[in-house]
Amino acid sequence: MTYIWAHRGASAYAPENTMEAFKLAIKQGVDGIELDVQLTKDGVVVVIHDETIDRVSDNKGFVKDYDYQQLINFNFNNNNQDYPFCKIPTLEEVLQLIKPTKLTLNIELKNSVFEYTGMEQKVLELVKKYEMEDRVIYSSFNHYSIVKILKLDPSAICAFLHSDKVIGMATYAKSYNVKYLHPAYYVLLDQNYLKEASENNILINTWTVNDPIYIYEALKTKVNAIITDYPDKAMLIRDDFLKEK
Ligand code: G3P
Ligand code: CA
Repeated sequence: MTYIWAHRGASAYAPENTMEAFKLAIKQGVDGIELDVQLTKDGVVVVIHDETIDRVSDNKGFVKDYDYQQLINFNFNNNNQDYPFCKIPTLEEVLQLIKPTKLTLNIELKNSVFEYTGMEQKVLELVKKYEMEDRVIYSSFNHYSIVKILKLDPSAICAFLHSDKVIGMATYAKSYNVKYLHPAYYVLLDQNYLKEASENNILINTWTVNDPIYIYEALKTKVNAIITDYPDKAMLIRDDFLKEK
């Protein structure tokens, strides 16, 4: 069965990458959660998509230029009036939230623009602290960072993110002991891609699939997981899909 993972939490309904969005996703009954992490000036792993806080908060500037204690004063509700105030979450807070559940957690390291020296080690240590190694998948568009994670912990479960139709992604992933590929949905439309993944025992988690038609099409490809802003709708589509079989 294809799993449904909430992209930045249930982000179609609650402000992305906030505890509110993660709690809502859990309430909806998702199989997993995807989130993005960056590092503050004082080295706290925080959950936010962009390098700057401009788009989703009531303030401006780079995450890396703020100490965590400064960031918690700002409102990260992304202008969603249904949520008057949302604090920026730390990765640790999300791990505490997910720990009692059975959910998979996909931690995307957003370190393609800024390297955030030491972030891989910090993230690994946090996951280890909560003994969640068996259900965390580390992904990044920065493949050097994924290789670094595997060097620090060869048993880490990792994924290469990519958005282009690159030839040989599955053999490339296998050569680095990376178990998953995380392609943009449209990459799947190329049959060679899925064939090569299956031949190399690489599992696919695809993003960000929001259109019901594409969710249905993605289910047909038997990918491991669909990452979506609308996990509630995706789960209903999956119910219908499974009944048809
Ligand atoms: O991890 C899948 C997807 O979230 C990657 O793109 O920009 O939404 O982080 P983005
Ligand atoms: Ca992401």
